[in-house]
Amino acid sequence: MSMNTKRLTVDNVAQGAAVIAQGGLLGIPTETVYGLGANGLDPNAVAAIFAAKGRPQDNPLILHIPDPSWLERYCQDIPETAYTLAERFWPGPLTIILKRKPNVPDAVTAGLDTVGMRCPACAVTRAIIAAADVPVAAPSGNTSGRPSPTTAAAMLEDMDGKIDAIVDAGPCAVGVESTIIDLTTAPPRLLRPGGVTLEQLREALGEVNLDEAVTRLMSTNEKPRAPGMKYRHYAPKAPVTVVSGEPEAAAQYIAAHLEPGDGVICFNDYVNLFKGRPTESIGPTDDQSEHARRIFEALRAFDHKDVRRIWAQSPDANGLGLAVTNRLNKAAGFHIIELSKEK
Ligand code: TXA
Ligand code: MG
Repeated sequence: MSMNTKRLTVDNVAQGAAVIAQGGLLGIPTETVYGLGANGLDPNAVAAIFAAKGRPQDNPLILHIPDPSWLERYCQDIPETAYTLAERFWPGPLTIILKRKPNVPDAVTAGLDTVGMRCPACAVTRAIIAAADVPVAAPSGNTSGRPSPTTAAAMLEDMDGKIDAIVDAGPCAVGVESTIIDLTTAPPRLLRPGGVTLEQLREALGEVNLDEAVTRLMSTNEKPRAPGMKYRHYAPKAPVTVVSGEPEAAAQYIAAHLEPGDGVICFNDYVNLFKGRPTESIGPTDDQSEHARRIFEALRAFDHKDVRRIWAQSPDANGLGLAVTNRLNKAAGFHIIELSKEK
């Protein structure tokens, strides 16, 4: 089914809220990535999200709320640590997994007894949710498996004609999806790295475990805690090879192995090595925030170029780098050449 997708601006809060209230699909800007939002209490609206994305039914959605006081509406047995995190990091790029109340539909949680809660920093989106007066279920606004959209234009590439409207608030400030932390286990467990770093979470909470699915490929019979982590993800059409190690050495390795028809994702400082090649630079070597903002657009860009294979320089995995390397490694199906370990 095709519809005429309306373009809204940050001044159209009432129109955006009306789309949600009427059970429609709304492209929402957030500080992380654009989301595909609908009324999280309406199973039919939630089903439409899955249909528009082609998303597997066993992959739960998270609920977006305009302020932390809404936690009690949809969650129970809320630990003190949830409030600690909300106070420090909300509104912001953090999703907290808590025990759900029965009013959260199974369609949202894929039948789990927990639900992911997020209070986004983007003011217009919080205003829309507050005006609609319902929590907004929203996955990233890409077709399932594709890189997440960090601009309205990128989301429309996948969703034009499939959603009622989209609110354009410009490019996303963070660029990778929210950090997900599960507070229903002891110690708390980081399920997906994002804009709030593991280091920041440990400073706030003490011990925090890192879920295995963040750093390695899960085999098909394993069950990761964040169901979404098992799917091939963020992937451009061409296969990706990640080269990790000291930046200069990684760039030289790629230059030495590059074949005709190959593309490159690299730091700005090395673009000269790849002159005449399809190249996407993701910022200065030491600018992790810029890597995060650029990574999904870089991956998407190759779907408009005719490349056989994509080589990617890998940032360090500390701080925000853990999120960027996780997205790159997943795009590569964990096909990683680790230079430090090669010799
Ligand atoms: O930044 C973000 O979080 C964006 C914006 C739009 O807010 N949303 C987003 O949603 O990335 P999505 O659906 O693309 O990713 C949510 C992830 C999935 O991997 C899903 O499996 C996991 O969260 N998840 C959702 N509910 C969960 C739960 N109850 N327990 C464990 N993992 C859960
Ligand atoms: Mg997603």
